Amino acid sequence: IFRLKIDEVSPLRARYKVPDVLIKEPTTQKLFISHKEAGNFVLSSVNEDYKLQVTANPFQIELQSKGETVMSMNSNGLLYFEHLQPPPSDRYSICLSLHFLFLFVQEKQEDLEWNSAFLSFTVISTGPTSVGIDFSLHGYDHVYGIPQHTETLLLKNTSDGDAYRLYNLDIFGHKIHDKIGIYGSVPLLLAHKPNRTSGIFWLNSSETLVDIITITLLSVSTVPLTDVRWMSESGIIDVFLLMGPTAFDIFKQFAQLTGTQALPPLFSLGYHQCRWNYEDEQDVKAVDAGFDAHDIPYDVIWLDIEHTDGKRYFTWDKQKFQNPRKMQEHLKKKKRKLVVIVDPHIKVDPSYTLYSQAKDKGYFVKDRNGQDFEGICWPGSSCYLDFTNPEVRKWYADQFAFKTYKASTNILFVWNDMNEPSVFKGAEITMQKDAVHYNNWEHREVHNLYGYYQQMATAEGLIRRSSGKERPFVLTRSFFAGSQKYGAVWTGDNTAEWSYLKISIPMLLTINMAGISFCGADVGGFIGDPEPELLVRWYQAGAYQPFFRGHSNMESKRREPWLFGEKNTQIIRRAIRERYVLLPYLYTLFYRAHTAAEPTMGTPLPWLCFLQIPVFQRGGTVIPLKTTAGKSTEWMTDISYELHVALDTEACAIGELYVDDGHSFQYLHKKQFLYRKFTFCKNILSSSSSRFKNMQEVVLKLQNSTQSKTSLAHIMWLKVYFISLYLKYDI
Ligand code: NOJ
Repeated sequence: IFRLKIDEVSPLRARYKVPDVLIKEPTTQKLFISHKEAGNFVLSSVNEDYKLQVTANPFQIELQSKGETVMSMNSNGLLYFEHLQPPPSDRYSICLSLHFLFLFVQEKQEDLEWNSAFLSFTVISTGPTSVGIDFSLHGYDHVYGIPQHTETLLLKNTSDGDAYRLYNLDIFGHKIHDKIGIYGSVPLLLAHKPNRTSGIFWLNSSETLVDIITITLLSVSTVPLTDVRWMSESGIIDVFLLMGPTAFDIFKQFAQLTGTQALPPLFSLGYHQCRWNYEDEQDVKAVDAGFDAHDIPYDVIWLDIEHTDGKRYFTWDKQKFQNPRKMQEHLKKKKRKLVVIVDPHIKVDPSYTLYSQAKDKGYFVKDRNGQDFEGICWPGSSCYLDFTNPEVRKWYADQFAFKTYKASTNILFVWNDMNEPSVFKGAEITMQKDAVHYNNWEHREVHNLYGYYQQMATAEGLIRRSSGKERPFVLTRSFFAGSQKYGAVWTGDNTAEWSYLKISIPMLLTINMAGISFCGADVGGFIGDPEPELLVRWYQAGAYQPFFRGHSNMESKRREPWLFGEKNTQIIRRAIRERYVLLPYLYTLFYRAHTAAEPTMGTPLPWLCFLQIPVFQRGGTVIPLKTTAGKSTEWMTDISYELHVALDTEACAIGELYVDDGHSFQYLHKKQFLYRKFTFCKNILSSSSSRFKNMQEVVLKLQNSTQSKTSLAHIMWLKVYFISLYLKYDI
């Protein structure tokens, strides 16, 4: 990983440098100067595998790996750094410095107009502050990443239109194939060519644009080249060049910087049933009973904003939810969970304790005149908690303590919505850029981090309420690089149309590539009413996606899985049950995401069957499954495991299984887990010695072996063996 940082030597005031996203300050290695002449020199790694050729005039850096030029910076001369200026009357030029390892270059910037607008950016109070630079990716014509856009996996050339925009926005019914930013941003771009994958991580939380231009200079050679230009409204240039060389190396390198996916509690990998809104306690109980009556497993029922007392989060509507604790006890007996919504805007109401406390403590974002910023959201007039302030985050986390959050129990988990933040009637339905945060930073600097910080505080609150024992589950709509550390994300307000089902797949793959493995799209489509076949197909797709939740808008008709006739109920039931049977595999994938930064989605799909939609298991793999589904994940503890073995051309296969208690941090503190690798070769299945403690594996036996051979388009031979693995927990 190479890091390039460009800042001013002596700015008029400090420029914003994104805090709290890197898990630690990266350790550095010294390079040595292997060649030097007037105006340029070469820096080499100790083994000379990597070289950086630095040219002073024009300023350029070329990055080589084993003699191959991989990337160059500023080869199109688009380095752009608007230094901070006093108001126009008092203008003077400032020197720009550039730090690159021990490199130091100074350049003069041209005078700029105080009120100039850079591309789409409107500059109001600070004067121009934007930064940008271009990268040339040599030999690459496939680039991916930079979620979130309603876009294909392969990013498009932007030369004849808009650049991709990274700016978290609440866009109801967003269009498909749009380059505008929605809800979340991860400024990580991946480039892939046959023998190498590279990455560019642009650590900047202000509004950002990415231009992509791919060219093949046929007259010169047939080697393609992709130019990527990054531009941000403010901050500094702080960019990490991830050298791979494989895609999995890139995932690991990005995780070294921003962390890996939090290991979710097992229940959260089950099916979630949501709607805006499940009306009252009777409704919740009836829906819960409906799943049992129709023999469909599910783990979690969700309550949207209407469950609160007038959109005052952390409270309950007194009429509709008269005894929320009892309702949770009922769900708990059924081994199920509840998720409730907690948005970041706080109703302006002096009699609402959360509001009055936050006001007294000065915990709200301010407007440019120093007053609490007021905007409109669900409750009407609202103030916005300043989650960029660590003290606010601590206070907010404390709100989830059982004694503070009245009638909350340990089966209640949290959904953070509207946290771009959404401000109705604000420009582009968000907070104005000159609102003021902790340490006087303008909103423009921190915009893309707002939701990241809310989810961070919420996850912390859920951990703390269990005295550090239990894993949290928090779903967020807005996200940034590193959000994977705090829970799950979903793709927001999609529409009940086929095209949205189709686009959800590349969208989720892209989010996965950017480190956030726990992601999903609203099954059925949030807006509108899906025709039954669309709903059925969406369940079939959602069952294979990391976060699996059915959700619908207020105006949509009810759509619990049994409302579309017996035939459709049957197919949906089968899809959900298949999900539950696959849970050991899914959980193991999450363990890999958590420990080794491997995406849960984007590796080949695990299962081969001749449902109308075939799902393939790759030859050479062993997939762990449950023999059958139960009513919810907790009901499945005693159901035995089976291994599905698909052989490669050498008649071998490998796979693995991760098992723990499914909810606590004991896997971390006491190493109470089982992690086992399986190898199948020459008709013999062997497994690595188990690393578990205090957990006894009673029997691992070949119970029944059936063999079948299937030829799949001459590619793969499939054999399936059934094995039972009985585990005894002692935790
Ligand atoms: C917007 C969210 O995207 C949606 O899922 C939710 O139902 C509504 N807000 C109401 O809370």
